[in-house]
Amino acid sequence: MSETAELKLDGKSIQLPVLEGTENEKAIDISKLRDQTGYVTLDSGFKNTGATKSAITFLDGEKGILKYRGYGIEELAEKSTFLEVAYLLIYGNLPTKTEIEDFQRKISRHTLVHEDMKKFFDGFPSKSHPMGQLSSLVCSLSSFYPESLDPHQTKEEFELTIIKLLAKMPTIVSWIYKKSLGHPVLYPQNKYDYVSNFLYMTFGQRTEEITIDPVVIDAMNKLLILHADHEQNCSTSTVRIVGSSDCNLYASISAGVSALWGPLHGGANQAVIEMLEKIKNDGGDVDKWVNKAKDKNDSFRLMGFGHRVYKNFDPRAKIIKKACDDILAKLGINDPVLDIAKKLEEVALNDPYFVDRKLYPNVDFYSGIIYRALGFPTEMFTVLFALGRLPGWIAQWKEMRENKEPIGRPRQIYIGEKDRTFVDIASR
Ligand code: CMC
Repeated sequence: MSETAELKLDGKSIQLPVLEGTENEKAIDISKLRDQTGYVTLDSGFKNTGATKSAITFLDGEKGILKYRGYGIEELAEKSTFLEVAYLLIYGNLPTKTEIEDFQRKISRHTLVHEDMKKFFDGFPSKSHPMGQLSSLVCSLSSFYPESLDPHQTKEEFELTIIKLLAKMPTIVSWIYKKSLGHPVLYPQNKYDYVSNFLYMTFGQRTEEITIDPVVIDAMNKLLILHADHEQNCSTSTVRIVGSSDCNLYASISAGVSALWGPLHGGANQAVIEMLEKIKNDGGDVDKWVNKAKDKNDSFRLMGFGHRVYKNFDPRAKIIKKACDDILAKLGINDPVLDIAKKLEEVALNDPYFVDRKLYPNVDFYSGIIYRALGFPTEMFTVLFALGRLPGWIAQWKEMRENKEPIGRPRQIYIGEKDRTFVDIASR
């Protein structure tokens, strides 16, 4: 596109290139702005700033569209497995039958984690949050596989690092869960596919054989697919920016896990259930809590409502709401917290405060209810989000490296003190 944007500044006029993406998103390229004018742009929270050109995920917040590598999320959630989606995100195409079998085989060979990692669990206090553990454990993989520290790994070595991380993550996550119960961990069983193996290690017992309900496997696949990527969100941007310093994949993903932990991001799924429980225990007066959320003197927000990008509906929430209804019906679960959730949704969707600000239930509003129905404790919810987001983080990290993106280093506008005179400590 040869179109340019004209900027008039300090009596001068400069032309800024205009870019257009494949889905017709437009951007003004300001990469030479400071060189040309001495100015930088200021955009707190990066609400208008594109940090990269990416070919992985497209989302249109106004129309409620989400696509991975050009495939609509609805079709992927309906027709594919999480492992296929992981392959799609990381390598760019849906795998053939041979490719997915090969991928599964490679992953199966690396599902065990080093026995010494078990010792780490003894060091965590019993009440330590699973996300803190996950972040530490993922980072610690860099100690077991020091070859990953080399930013100039060959393609084959890098490929192995990816496989190891994908393979070990379900083992680590299930062990975090087992340790929280004080139960012995289960080793992976490579006869299972990726998601079934995770469920086996999580819900299996050493004392008896278990059968994993296909309904549960299907729900888990869907949930993980819906969380697999979401373009340049807080945790993904973190992964890319940490990786841009040539930091290894494990440490970069560990940083992403930490970014995801916050209740304004992935931690919202835990916060939603805690909020619903609170409302229930407070007598279930939904209006009271909606009014609290609207009150600008009250810091309370309706968790699971609103999204930085989706301003009409969250397509993931639409799919997950249906999955939620299905699984609760199939498992015969009658959850009073769900009744509160339904009331809250109804009140908020009809309240001008939420309607005017385009605040709709997001993916986290329903995911927690499903995780709860499947038997996961609340503190594990964000860890499950991380398990789902892993292929997206890897794909984004890989893309950033392949594009040879420069180190991420934003500018600022300094508003602090100017030239102060140093006063000796005795005189202060
Ligand atoms: N409850 C009450 N008011 C809200 C909420 C909410 N959940 N979300 C936004 N608002 C209000 C906010 O007070 C502001 O009002 P005003 O214009 O009068 O000042 C307006 O809506 C715009 O909010 P914002 O904070 O400027 O919007 P944002 O784009 O910076 O924040 C958000 C997006 C997701 C952080 C925010 O909506 C929020 O805190 N939601 C609750 C947490 C949550 O559910 N997070 C999960 C997001 S989805 C999972 C993921 O992808 O991470």
